[in-house]
Order: sequence, then C-alpha cells, then structure tokens
Amino acid sequence: MTESTGRTGTEGQGGTAIAEEPAAGPMVRVEDLHRSYGSGAGAVHALRGVSFDVPRGELVALKGRSGSGKTTLLNLLGGLDSPDSGRITVDGTDLAELGENGLLELRRDRIGFIFQSFGLIPILTAAENVGVPMRLRKADPREREDRVALLLSLVGLADHAAQRPGELSGGQQQRVAIARALANRPALLIADEPTGQLDAETGLAVMELLRAVVRSEGVTALVATHDAQLLGLADRVLELSDGHIVEHA
Ligand SMILES: Nc1ncnc2c1ncn2[C@@H]1O[C@H](COP(=O)(O)OP(=O)(O)O)[C@@H](O)[C@H]1O
Ligand SMILES: [Mg+2]
Repeated sequence: MTESTGRTGTEGQGGTAIAEEPAAGPMVRVEDLHRSYGSGAGAVHALRGVSFDVPRGELVALKGRSGSGKTTLLNLLGGLDSPDSGRITVDGTDLAELGENGLLELRRDRIGFIFQSFGLIPILTAAENVGVPMRLRKADPREREDRVALLLSLVGLADHAAQRPGELSGGQQQRVAIARALANRPALLIADEPTGQLDAETGLAVMELLRAVVRSEGVTALVATHDAQLLGLADRVLELSDGHIVEHA
C-alpha cells in the first residue's frame, strides 16, 4: 500500500491538511476488554473487563503494580495484539474492523509509540531516527527535513542532530524517541513506562516534556508509569487493579 490516508495531501504546511471533519467522541474508548494468556488452571487473566475513555487532548496516566496488565492494555490499544473480547475504538476507528494493512497504517500514521528502552536505531543519527516514520509513509524529503529539525528543537536537541544514540545520554535518547513519535503528527501517543530507565531528575524532565508536547502539539497521550511525578502532571489517572480500571480524580 502507498500513501492512502490523505495525510500527505495538497494543502500546504502547518498543522494537518486533512479536510475531513474532526471525529467526535473520545480519542480512545475501551469497552469490556478481556485478555488472558494460556488456558485452563494455568491461565493468567491480565484484563478482566476493562472499560474507560481517554478524552481528546488529555494526558492520561495509567498506573498499577508490575504485572497488573499495563503493557497488555497498551499493546491492544496500539493494535499490536488482539483482545479475547471487548471493543477498542481509537480516533473513531473500531480496531476490530481494520485488517492487517489498516492496523499497519494506524500504527504508522495515527499512533506514536514511546518505550522504556527508547527503541532507537543505533546506526542512525538522532535526526535520521526522528525521520524514520516519515520515510515509512514516503513523505516528501524536504517536508521531512523541515519537520525533523523542528521536532529536534522542540525536544531541545537541535545541537545533537548528527549524534548517534550511543553518543547521547538516556534522557537525550528518550527525547529523540519522543520527537520520532511525533513525526507523523499522530493523534495518540502511547508510552510504556517512558522513564523506567532514567534517574529521577532526568525522568521528571522527560515527563515535563511529554506534558508540554501534549499541549503544544494538540496530541492525546496515554502513559503507563509508576512515576509519582508524572501522576501529578496528568489530567487524569487510571489505575489497573485486579484486571479492572479504577479511575482517580
Ligand atoms: N506473552 C505473555 N504470555 C504469558 N503471560 C503474559 C504475557 N505477557 C504478560 N503476561 C502476564 O500478564 C500479566 C500482565 O502483564 P503486563 O501486561 O506485562 O503487566 P505490566 O505491564 O503492568 O507489568 C502478568 O501476570 C504477566 O506475567
Ligand atoms: Mg509493563
């Protein structure tokens, strides 16, 4: 498949060029989601009827002790795994209605992923890493270079564009990963313990950056974290407990 989303359309720069009406409703809606691993007596019921909404433009934190199902849930939302039952809607699209190509395009064009271990490509420079998602959707090279430069300044790394991940600190690598996640102007950022490998001070700086880009880029974010500092920066906190969601004010 080639460029089929209209995102590389004709209407010039700045913001999205999509002429469609903005979808109404929450950015994410999860309804009665179940996901188990294994079967019989040894089965692990990671999610046992999870329901919640993520409103557009919010930074929502997902907490819960290790093994509570956070990664399982984020993988389902990102279309990396399928639920046993229940429904997931992202930006108005029911994931169950997407085929393999549809899921691929959703992940490439509408969701930005940020992982605990950064996930950068070691042999590419910071700038090249940020540009990867735009190459995958065959964006115009000039548009790509401009946006990469803009994103590197947004995350405070304009002076580090030519460095490879091994030449950057952990916090800087995660900043590159955040810039990369924003490359295709996703509707949704999904971050799985993005500060899990960082010291407290660096982790806080990364969380504050996430907080800032949710505001400045108009993106919605769902962030799994143990980090008390992030919980304080979130618009809303969801807790996974016993396979269910408990919402905190
Ligand atoms: N691929 C898998 N196979 C079997 N069990 C799994 C698998 N992935 C996760 N689990 C189990 O599901 C539960 C939830 O795991 P996970 O979603 O990774 O939680 P968290 O991210 O909150 O630590 C845990 O009991 C874990 O051991
Ligand atoms: Mg996890």
